[in-house]
Amino acid sequence: MSTLASFRLDSRVSVVTGGARGLGYDIADALAEAGSDLVITSRQQETVDEAADKFRQAHGVQVLPLTLDHCDFDQVVAVAQQAADWQGRIDVLVNNAGGGVGGIPDLFERPPEAIKTMIETNLIGPMYCCREFGRTMVGAGRGSIINIASIAGMCGRDRRMYDRTGLGQQPIGYAAAKGGVISMTMDLAGYLTPKGVRVNAISPGGFERGQVQAFIDAYSDATPMGRMGRDGVDLKGAILFLASDASAYVTGQNLAVDGGFVMWK
Ligand SMILES: NC(=O)c1ccc[n+]([C@@H]2O[C@H](COP(=O)([O-])OP(=O)(O)OC[C@H]3O[C@@H](n4cnc5c(N)ncnc54)[C@H](OP(=O)(O)O)[C@@H]3O)[C@@H](O)[C@H]2O)c1
Repeated sequence: MSTLASFRLDSRVSVVTGGARGLGYDIADALAEAGSDLVITSRQQETVDEAADKFRQAHGVQVLPLTLDHCDFDQVVAVAQQAADWQGRIDVLVNNAGGGVGGIPDLFERPPEAIKTMIETNLIGPMYCCREFGRTMVGAGRGSIINIASIAGMCGRDRRMYDRTGLGQQPIGYAAAKGGVISMTMDLAGYLTPKGVRVNAISPGGFERGQVQAFIDAYSDATPMGRMGRDGVDLKGAILFLASDASAYVTGQNLAVDGGFVMWK
């Protein structure tokens, strides 16, 4: 197989949790562009149906749109079974769903329930998915799991930058959960790689999402590449590499896609 051909995903099935919007949409788009059929999820059926139509039209792939709250174990079990039954295979799982959870961010004021929900949303849910989708992959003796972590799980945030630019406090539970995702990835790779399933993480840096300009400027200045991440562009290549046979000898890694941000920490 040529090197370029090793990036193709024709006849494969990729699952992207939270694949209907944000970085999950970009991830699903990259996988479909490489020929993969998709299982994408959202907590809202309408949202995921709309995204599925776009992927079908843009790439001519088959898409199964499903509703999933990955914090609900029974839902994860049911959705993993539906996904496995669809084409009889699951080749790629991207544990993308996660992100911020509301509530007062300051640790000393944050309601315990919000602390718990943050960990469930960013660590427990992805672990449930590794368990249930991973089971099918182990049965087939092949697969690639990619857990979306964050550079917040690799280094402490510079709180002065958030204070100065008006973004204020950030919940430490997010960093705790993402650090857990990175550790989970390494240990899970130790468990599943001998069974034929590679497990890697990607830790994105901050993506530009309409933050106040002062924050964008400060964050860009702290980044060797001088800018924040771009939706629709910056995550796609890394996903395709880790999902495909192009990374056949890569497992247990955490790839920072951050313009070098962590390098200067
Ligand atoms: N944006 C960044 O700068 C950045 C940086 C580092 C890491 N990340 C990570 O990258 C991933 C995607 O980030 P994003 O910025 O695209 O997030 P986002 O715009 O906030 O979207 C969150 C995504 O997670 C899904 N989701 C949230 N809670 C869920 C739950 N309980 N069950 C199932 N799905 C759930 C949402 O799906 P629905 O709302 O459709 O249900 C949505 O697809 C997250 O894991 C985030 O932590 C993002």
